[in-house]
Amino acid sequence: MKILVTGGAGFIGSHVAERLLARGDQVAIIDNLNTFYDPAVKRANLELLRARHNFEFYPDDILDRNAMERIFRLEKPDRVVHLAARAGVRPSLSDPVLYAEVNVTGTAVLLELARQFEVGNFLFGSSSSVYGAAGNVTFREDDPVAKPISPYAATKRAGELLCYSYHHNCGLRVCCLRFFTVYGPRQRPDMAIAKFAGLITQGRALPVYAHGNSERDYTYVSDIVDGVIAALDAQFNFEIFNLGTGRSVKLLDLISLLENALEIRAQRQELPAQDGDVPFTCADISKARTMLNYQPQCSIECGISRFVEWFCGRQKASPAHRTE
Ligand SMILES: NC(=O)c1ccc[n+]([C@@H]2O[C@H](COP(=O)([O-])OP(=O)(O)OC[C@H]3O[C@@H](n4cnc5c(N)ncnc54)[C@H](O)[C@@H]3O)[C@@H](O)[C@H]2O)c1
Repeated sequence: MKILVTGGAGFIGSHVAERLLARGDQVAIIDNLNTFYDPAVKRANLELLRARHNFEFYPDDILDRNAMERIFRLEKPDRVVHLAARAGVRPSLSDPVLYAEVNVTGTAVLLELARQFEVGNFLFGSSSSVYGAAGNVTFREDDPVAKPISPYAATKRAGELLCYSYHHNCGLRVCCLRFFTVYGPRQRPDMAIAKFAGLITQGRALPVYAHGNSERDYTYVSDIVDGVIAALDAQFNFEIFNLGTGRSVKLLDLISLLENALEIRAQRQELPAQDGDVPFTCADISKARTMLNYQPQCSIECGISRFVEWFCGRQKASPAHRTE
């Protein structure tokens, strides 16, 4: 099968591409290697893949309709995993228009080409942020999601709605996957675990917002990839799935786990709660368990220890990957 992975040089995309290539699928990656974080990290992700496999890479912007059409014409993908996006809640507050362009218009460009080129299955990388500040009980796919509290969350919900409209009007098969705080090797450097590991090893203070009482369902990246592959192979008409673990972890407990794994005590800087940040996320994963046979394997303890092993190895090996 030929799978088009947008955002395939990024954190989750490079793991998805790696798994697809390992099982023998043909993969084409679109990624404009933007500077949201150091593009050297994204190039290194591609090099890592290229060392073991052969794939096509297109350094194009998903907003460039002509380039996208050329790629679809050339590659004729059977399936699309659409992960390219402006990620991150907080930066979306300072540049909401860019987030809307890339995450909403970019998704529309790809859906339209998926329709024209009769793609068999379209996966959309959505986010737990669509649930907003919904409270502290597990989130289900049929919960109301009309109150996103950041532009990023609003763009992800808008992407899901566009997906539904393409399914309804054109019969496109679509799955929207709501990822819950993904971590693991190659994690985006702006995200808490990678950022904290960098600060702790440099002896710098961690910004601890809202007394560290926020809670997240942290999901190890290989579990997310299991869910993505299951949805890609299953071909539902239209479904939304939570991909998380079903367990939430307090920020303070996460910091302790990192301190123990790194064997360094962290300095902390107490800061007020940040706009756009939700206080709590936790996935109800019963739908994914039943329909995708999704069984997350990696506990937070195991995931942090694997992450730290990778992080320390990389700090020694490659300056391009160092978290500044
Ligand atoms: N990491 C998480 O915890 C998480 C949680 C929920 C949802 N998501 C979603 O999963 C997807 C992947 O996230 P990630 O953490 O791997 O982020 P990432 O930033 O590492 O990957 C996204 C990739 O998309 C590329 N990209 C961005 N804009 C583009 C454009 N206009 N044209 C072409 N390429 C473009 C970037 O260069 C980057 O390599 C995103 O859609 C994100 O919103 C991630």
